[in-house]
Amino acid sequence: MDKSTSLFNLTGKVAVVTGASSGLGRRSAEVLAVAGAKVVGVARRTEVLESLALELGENFSYISADISDRGRLADLCLEINSKFGPPDILVHAAGVNTRQTADEVTDLGWDQTISLNLSTPFFLSQLLVPEMKKKGWGRIVNFASVQTTRAFPGGIAYGASKGAIGQLTRAMAEAWSSHGICVNAIGPGFFPTELTQIVFEDAERSKRNADQTCIGRNGEMEDLDGPLLFLCSEASRYVTGQVLMVDGGFTAK
Ligand SMILES: NC(=O)c1ccc[n+]([C@@H]2O[C@H](COP(=O)([O-])OP(=O)(O)OC[C@H]3O[C@@H](n4cnc5c(N)ncnc54)[C@H](OP(=O)(O)O)[C@@H]3O)[C@@H](O)[C@H]2O)c1
Repeated sequence: MDKSTSLFNLTGKVAVVTGASSGLGRRSAEVLAVAGAKVVGVARRTEVLESLALELGENFSYISADISDRGRLADLCLEINSKFGPPDILVHAAGVNTRQTADEVTDLGWDQTISLNLSTPFFLSQLLVPEMKKKGWGRIVNFASVQTTRAFPGGIAYGASKGAIGQLTRAMAEAWSSHGICVNAIGPGFFPTELTQIVFEDAERSKRNADQTCIGRNGEMEDLDGPLLFLCSEASRYVTGQVLMVDGGFTAK
């Protein structure tokens, strides 16, 4: 195997992907498993995770859990470790967008959003980092957004969580990179998933988003593959604390 291939080879690595039942999380689990990692997918819907297990075979295992409950994360980590051993790679793709406006946002909507999109990526990482430190190698990928730096209607809690995840990524990198643990975020543009179904159903809005990019179209699921594999592999060994926008140039304009 030549050097360029081995840089992206994840054989021998264990990965955890939250939000693996849908959209970008599901795609992440597929990409990492195909690259050779043993992958543990975490989400609430058992039947969808089961279908992914049938597709990916022995490189994939799953845990059905609500990860917005911080009090359950320690037990969840015990279960994660029992699948393939302590993870080397952690991809935080689980997320929610209630789309409540600033005038309408409820306590519940706010708390659920901040909890799942911001608190869980930190506290789950905090629990799994000690084993990465022992190995002297780790990769953590958060999911940011165009709302990390831009304001959208109905994006008050979501935008706050995604703005904060940009800074959390830098702070986690500051804390853990000297142990060989690179922490970065992917900032997707508009990709067709359950989360964005409402946007893609509105042809005019969808076209407006595509026109705002430099490339001239919205995201396709395979656009995630290279950036994710880069950030989860040896290829990104000197890259940490960054938000890599995978948005076709949406935020460049
Ligand atoms: N799609 C885009 O265009 C886009 C753009 C920018 C950023 N993002 C970000 O990318 C990430 C993935 O988004 P997506 O579009 O792939 O969303 P999605 O298709 O709606 O998937 C969200 C995932 O989160 C899981 N999840 C939700 N609540 C959970 C909970 N309480 N406990 C455990 N798992 C939970 C869901 O699984 P269950 O329902 O089975 O629990 C599902 O697997 C999110 O952080 C999102 O903010 C997406």
